[in-house]
Amino acid sequence: MDHIRFGRTGLQVSRLCLGTMTFGFQCDDDTSFAIMDAAYEGGITFFDTADIYPLGGPTATIGRTEELVGSWLQRGGRTRDDVILATKCFARTGPHTWDQGNNRKNIMRAIDASLKRLGTDYVDLYQIHFYDPNVHVDETLQAMDDLVRSGKVRYIGCSNTLAYQLARSIGRSELHSISRFESVQPRYNMLFREIERELLPLCAEENVAVIPYNPLAGGMLTGKHRPGAPTEGTRFTLGRAQGTYTDRYWHDAMFDSVEEIRAVAEDAGVPMTTLAVQWVLANPVITSPIIGASRPEQLAASIAGAAADIAPDVKARLDELTAVYRQGDHDR
Ligand SMILES: NC(=O)c1ccc[n+]([C@@H]2O[C@H](COP(=O)([O-])OP(=O)(O)OC[C@H]3O[C@@H](n4cnc5c(N)ncnc54)[C@H](OP(=O)(O)O)[C@@H]3O)[C@@H](O)[C@H]2O)c1
Repeated sequence: MDHIRFGRTGLQVSRLCLGTMTFGFQCDDDTSFAIMDAAYEGGITFFDTADIYPLGGPTATIGRTEELVGSWLQRGGRTRDDVILATKCFARTGPHTWDQGNNRKNIMRAIDASLKRLGTDYVDLYQIHFYDPNVHVDETLQAMDDLVRSGKVRYIGCSNTLAYQLARSIGRSELHSISRFESVQPRYNMLFREIERELLPLCAEENVAVIPYNPLAGGMLTGKHRPGAPTEGTRFTLGRAQGTYTDRYWHDAMFDSVEEIRAVAEDAGVPMTTLAVQWVLANPVITSPIIGASRPEQLAASIAGAAADIAPDVKARLDELTAVYRQGDHDR
């Protein structure tokens, strides 16, 4: 597994990051451990989680994913320093209305709760999960800078932000000479390319690391789904997440695009899953796509995406076929 510089920082991270949001609801404990084992054996040493995970689970499961990541870190003779660990805060994770958001009180509470569940005294990357319209970004940045200075956090990042929000945040950090967002975690795949227009050029210019989620569009780009009712047991029927994912990807136009991508993959002799990961990695602004799995055997095809580059003519065909998804009106 290749490594790559994490934006403008001096940190090196593996070219793929493992997403953990299936652990603790869709995946039981043993399956979650097996996925982490398979990723680690495949050379992935960069793990992404969040305080609100697992995806789709009832309220009682909140925090379970971080606990599983923390337990796994203590198994098999590993130490905390064997992985680069990223987590996030923002969503409501406690009983009070103030146990949410990017305000100082919640950030201070949330990091301590995450560190406890993860069984560690620091995370390498602490991200705000969503932009918070109710908090001035200065308050968020000052609180996160304090976490860096206290040693609980090495770098800070953000997720699901618009380009202007990230640009403004960087400007405010510069103004106050405090930590800035060194990374962004947006949605990015062949069926969602809107970030190519504004966010990615900003990241290139400011040397912000980009760690995109949903590289397989939640499984659509594996080619296994067909129009009609979503397949039981998959992301598209997963508890509270079902609506989000069907809204994003379960559309006739996207199924048509998947068929066109399938034809390109067959011509190229590359599995669709591998091709989808290769396509994301081929964008020079991308640092490490965050790959996901609900079973350990699913990972091999994604990991293969980091082992060989996409052929330039194949990339060009896919860019052309999916150009419509650069437009904002496909933002779901
Ligand atoms: N910041 C955010 O708001 C945000 C949002 C989403 C995700 N994330 C992060 O990004 C990570 C990855 O996201 P993602 O899971 O949506 O990524 P993804 O790569 O788009 O989708 C992964 C899913 O596709 C299916 N799949 C994967 N490989 C397969 C294979 N070989 N054959 C058949 N199906 C396969 C599995 O779902 P099924 O088995 O259920 O079909 C798997 O869980 C998350 O774990 C999380 O860390 C962040």
